[in-house]
Order: sequence, then structure tokens, then C-alpha cells
Amino acid sequence: MNRNIVCIGAGYIGGPTMAVIAKMNPDRKVTVVDINKTRIAAWNSKTFALPIYEPGLVEVVKEVRGKNLFFSTEIDKAVREADIIFVGVNTPTKMFGKGAGRASDLQYWEATARNIKKIAKGDKIIIEKSTLPVRTAAAMDAILNSPDDGGKGGPRFTVLSNPEFLAEGTAIRDLMEPDRVLIGGPETPDGRDAVRELVSIYQGKDLKWVPSYKILTTNVWSAELTKLAANAMLAQRVSSVNALAGLCEATGADIDEVARVMGADRRIGSKFLKAGPGFGGSCFKKDVLNLVYLCESFGLHTAADYWMGVIKMNDHQQERIVSRLFKEMFNTLANKKIAIFGFAFKADTGDTRETPAGTVVRLLADEHVRIAITDPKALPNAKLDLVDLKGAEIVYEADAYKAAKEADAIVVMTDWAEYPKLDWAKLYKSMRKPALVYDTRNCLDTAALRKLGFKTLNIGKR
Ligand code: NAD
Ligand code: UGA
Repeated sequence: MNRNIVCIGAGYIGGPTMAVIAKMNPDRKVTVVDINKTRIAAWNSKTFALPIYEPGLVEVVKEVRGKNLFFSTEIDKAVREADIIFVGVNTPTKMFGKGAGRASDLQYWEATARNIKKIAKGDKIIIEKSTLPVRTAAAMDAILNSPDDGGKGGPRFTVLSNPEFLAEGTAIRDLMEPDRVLIGGPETPDGRDAVRELVSIYQGKDLKWVPSYKILTTNVWSAELTKLAANAMLAQRVSSVNALAGLCEATGADIDEVARVMGADRRIGSKFLKAGPGFGGSCFKKDVLNLVYLCESFGLHTAADYWMGVIKMNDHQQERIVSRLFKEMFNTLANKKIAIFGFAFKADTGDTRETPAGTVVRLLADEHVRIAITDPKALPNAKLDLVDLKGAEIVYEADAYKAAKEADAIVVMTDWAEYPKLDWAKLYKSMRKPALVYDTRNCLDTAALRKLGFKTLNIGKR
């Protein structure tokens, strides 16, 4: 009999991951639970108005919801009935006490583990899906398997680490065709059995999902650290290319040319060399900070400083954008209108967590700029994020043309595919002159914009 799966946490990771697990394992029941009633209601919405936007997600949910995929707020019931429990709750940066601003806040994880222990009747496999500091599995094992029943007869819990590498905007593709699946398990008979079970889930029914050679198994600590390391390496590449972008602007080199030629070296590779407004998203900053904290905790201060540099470079990138605007717009921004094109942290998502556009908008609001924000998917989140900016003059406009009307400048913050296709002559006509476009994603045709009369700024080129 195939064993039931539950996932605790119905967010960006729990929802898409479980939808694809259910699709590829039609013989297993998969239930996703969350304490957030609104979120679960949205996952169950009759019109499929799901709580997150991901290309291809609605189609998968339509295929499996109500068949072998269920969303529920009845956490205890689902945990009792499940044999395999994924935990995909949030692990934000801790904002208080020891490690504040760096360490992971593990309170949600620990509360979840304690609740599982309280409710569970039979043996269970517990799978870390959230990104966690190295050795969290050991702490979870200690909590779950503590002998408060005298050590005899209670259920046994086996903790595995199975970090997720999907990126937002391409989540369904990444899940369907992952570069690799990583499973870390203990070197014990129970551990090996649990790893085998999880491998069979990723292979899918009739071995139709992930080929065995892509399923990599390691010890638990390597799996936990690999997730932080992979995100840190990706973030480091973005900060490195952005550090070079400033130098390109100063010297007349072109960062896109430099990146193209660097990336043609197979040892370097072409991915993650796109200069821009800096990385956003819920994980890069949090995970690099977590790595910094781990290094510090083990006395590796030089390594901690090295990784901290990745964050500092990223913060600097957004400050630099506003400084260049300031300089280009005659050293005064007060009462000028600036249209922000794109608020999502990257294209094809409505997610705005740690978005560079948020930082830029706040810096512009400090300068008393009149701001119009447009974005095809992220306006609801933008409004929530900026709710505290009470005195600032900010309008949210779904129509990019309306956002740009009578603006002094357009700042492209997200590389949505529709932006290069806009009628830029029409935009130019409706703006105040001199009209400026600051393309922080280098996604527009600068020569064509200049021909229309725009002044232009890019990242990493003159
Ligand atoms: P999220 O905030 O979108 O979702 C987490 C969900 O967990 C929320 O809906 C919250 O209500 C729920 N939750 C919290 N405590 C709970 C509890 N005690 N019981 C039940 N539900 C609870 O976060 P996310 O983006 O899905 O990230 C979750 C984890 O996955 C993080 O550790 C993150 O680093 C990792 N991760 C995320 C991504 C991504 O693309 N977002 C990719 C890889 C890894
Ligand atoms: C990232 C990783 O790519 C995933 O493997 C990982 O699972 C995930 O974090 C996570 O742990 O949450 P994500 O943040 O969704 O995924 O998106 P990315 O495509 O990595 O982009 C992150 C940020 O870097 C975006 O703001 C993007 O615009 C920026 N970026 C990316 C660049 O500025 N230049 C690039 O060349 C690539």
C-alpha cells in the first residue's frame, strides 16, 4: 500500500511541490495543510484563484485537486493519517535576541515538530522541505524521539533533509524536470528505508518522473548545508556581476558584453551573470545571512565577512540606482513623478518579498517623489508592502500607459516580457520632457528609445 503524504505549509514551496508530487504519484493521497485559513480557501477556490501565481500551476492543480490532492486547515487530522510528513513552513530571519538579523527563526519549525510528536500514533518519516541551518535535523530528531514515554513503544520518527531548488516563475518546470533532487538521510536501517521511500516518490508512478541518476543522496548535514551553499553561490554571482557593472559604467565597458564573453568559458558558464537592480526574493538574503551566522558561530570570521560582502554589494546596487537618478534629474527629485515599471522581484511571479523595487520606492519616497507603480501581477502585494508609507504620494496603476502619464522618468525594475513590447513612442509623448528611461534590467532597446527622444540610463553601460 502506498503511504499517505501530508505537507505542513501551503506557501510558495508547499503548494506547487505537492501539486506536482500528487500529479506524478496518482496512487498516493497528498494533503497540504496550513494555519492560514485564507490561503487554504484560495487553494480550494472554485475559480482556481490560487494564492500564488506561477505559470502552469493552475493546470496542475486542476488536474489533481479533489482526486489525490487536498488542501485543509485540519492539521492534526492530516498529520494523524499521514505516514510521510513534509514540513515547508517559513523560516524567516530572526529579528530578536541572539543572532537577530542573521540567524534563521526556527520557532515555526520547532512548534511544528512538537505538534507532530503530540499527535502522531504510528511511525513517521519527517522531511525537511524548508531551508534550515545545518544540524537542524539533529535538533528535530532530539525533540521528536525524546523518550517522554519512558523510551518504550512510542512512534519512531526518521528525519530526512530534502531541500527544494525550484525558482519562482519557473517552479512547475523546475519541479517536473529538476537538475537534481537532493535527499539527506541518517546512516541507520530506518534512515536507509526512509530514503528509499522518498526516492520512490520522486521517481513517480511507473518511474515516469525524475530519473534515478538525478536523485542524489548524502548525509543529512551535507544536504542541509548544500541548500544554503547553492543559494549563496548564486547570490554571489549576481553580486559579482553587479560589482563589475559599476566599473563598466565608469570605464565605458558594457556589462552585457563582458558577461556574454565570460560566460562563454564553460568553467564559468552563462547563467546568473545578468546585471540588474540586485537580487530579491524571500531566500537569497535570508540564506546568505544564515550562512554568515553559521560561520560566525563556528569562529570562521573571515568566511563570515566574505559572505556578508555579497549582501552589502546587493544593498549598494539599489542605493546606486537612486543616486544615478538623482544626478541625472538635476540633483532634485522632489515633486517629480517617477513611474516604476515592475514591482515583483523577478518576472513571472507576483512575489514581492525583498524586491529591489521596494527599496528603490522607499528611497524615492524619502526624496518626496510622486510615485506610480505598475506591474502585471504584483500590485496587490506592492500595496501591502508599502502600506506603512502613509505620507508618500504613491498610486498603483495596472495600465503602464496611465502610470507613465506626465512622468519625468520611467524606472524599469522587473523584466516583464511585455515591457519591450509597449508602444514607447506613445509613452514618450505622454511624459514630461526631458523624459528619462532607467532600464535597470537592460531589457529594452536603448538605441530605439534614444531615437524617440528619451534620455536613457542602464546598468553597467553608458
Ligand atoms: P511561505 O511563507 O510562502 O509559506 C509558508 C507557509 O507555512 C505559510 O502559509 C504559513 O502560514 C505556514 N505555516 C507557518 N507555521 C505553520 C504551522 N505551525 N502549521 C501550519 N502551517 C504553518 O514560505 P515559502 O516561500 O513557501 O518558503 C517556505 C520554506 O521553503 C522556507 O524555508 C524557504 O526558504 C524554503 N524555500 C522556498 C522557495 C521559494 O521559491 N519560495 C524555494 C526553495 C526553498
Ligand atoms: C532562488 C534559487 O534560484 C532557487 O534555486 C532556490 O530554490 C530559491 O532561490 C529559494 O531557495 O528560494 P528565486 O529566488 O525564486 O530562486 O529566483 P532566482 O531566479 O534565483 O532569482 C533571484 C533574484 O536574483 C531575482 O531578483 C533575480 O532577478 C536576480 N537575478 C538572477 C539577477 O539579478 N541576475 C541573474 O543573472 C539571475
